[in-house]
Amino acid sequence: MKITLHSPLDMHLHLRDGDMLKSIARYSSRYFAGAIIMPNLVPPVTTIEQVIEYDKRIEEAIDGDSFERYMTLFFKNSYGYDFLKEAEKYIKAIKLYPSGITTNSEGGVSSFEIDDLKETLEAMSELGLPLLVHGETNGFVMDREREFGSFYEKIASAFPKLKIVMEHITDRHSIKLLNEYENLYATITLHHLYITLDDVAGGLLKPHLFCKPIAKRYEDREALLDVALKAYPKVSFGSDSAPHPISSKESLGCAAGVFSSFVALPALCELFEKHNSLDNLQKFISDNAREIYDIVPIKKEVTLVKKEFEVPKELNGVVPMFYGEKLDWSYDESIGS
Ligand code: NCD
Ligand code: ZN
Repeated sequence: MKITLHSPLDMHLHLRDGDMLKSIARYSSRYFAGAIIMPNLVPPVTTIEQVIEYDKRIEEAIDGDSFERYMTLFFKNSYGYDFLKEAEKYIKAIKLYPSGITTNSEGGVSSFEIDDLKETLEAMSELGLPLLVHGETNGFVMDREREFGSFYEKIASAFPKLKIVMEHITDRHSIKLLNEYENLYATITLHHLYITLDDVAGGLLKPHLFCKPIAKRYEDREALLDVALKAYPKVSFGSDSAPHPISSKESLGCAAGVFSSFVALPALCELFEKHNSLDNLQKFISDNAREIYDIVPIKKEVTLVKKEFEVPKELNGVVPMFYGEKLDWSYDESIGS
């Protein structure tokens, strides 16, 4: 059995910088036609020059692969219309992080009052630039996304023309919001379709599955699976692949992030096939995103075959999701060399 995916897109990707960028970029660029590139570098990407320079470094790292970078800026309250009018030539969206909530988010937002955010949000709304949000409060870790719901409701109502993407949703209550607000959308990761908190901490602690937002309950995973498998049009795939060196994961104070880009397509084939939904994978992995973000991706066909794939224990110093396990699907041998 085979499946050919047309221009698969990853709408939430951390490519990092420096040596890490060089080591991991091609695990995305070989297999995807494009990706939303997250701006949480140190320092974060907040100027047009930084966007252009970062994009150049990515271009070098992907070594000629055809792979479109949908660049983003790190949200700041003070981006006015004129700045964003110029920036929109180089970026596809802006990513908002609550301050300190996840890796490299210290410069994020600490007030969620509309008055404090409106300078940037009004300009984004006028220019049609989507707002991508890491939606967690600093409450109890299992409740953070749910608690953030009232903020989503507040901005969705205050800026009805602004497209707001709830990034990497993990909680079934976020799905309800999707139905209630026309301008709310979401991305879903691979790992949140596969794991619950039990997989992270139910037995021996699994640092390579530790991420933000933390994986939740079985009923949350079921709700995410339901919308992903039927390729609900307001939802697209965003891996949130977030590599960290082994020394930062297997350490006192484990860094948050799952490195999943390399295994994402084979694992999604396996999951969608298991649930008799392979016909919907094209929509989840590309077509929905084209509509939501109004993009026409470059043409790239990626074929996967139903053939055992043993996931390496390590890839250039990073441990991938499913390390050492066997998946049922693999990349067609002619690609990715
Ligand atoms: C991400 C990272 O490492 O950059 N970590 C994570 O656990 N997902 C940041 C993020 O998206 O929260
Ligand atoms: Zn992320």
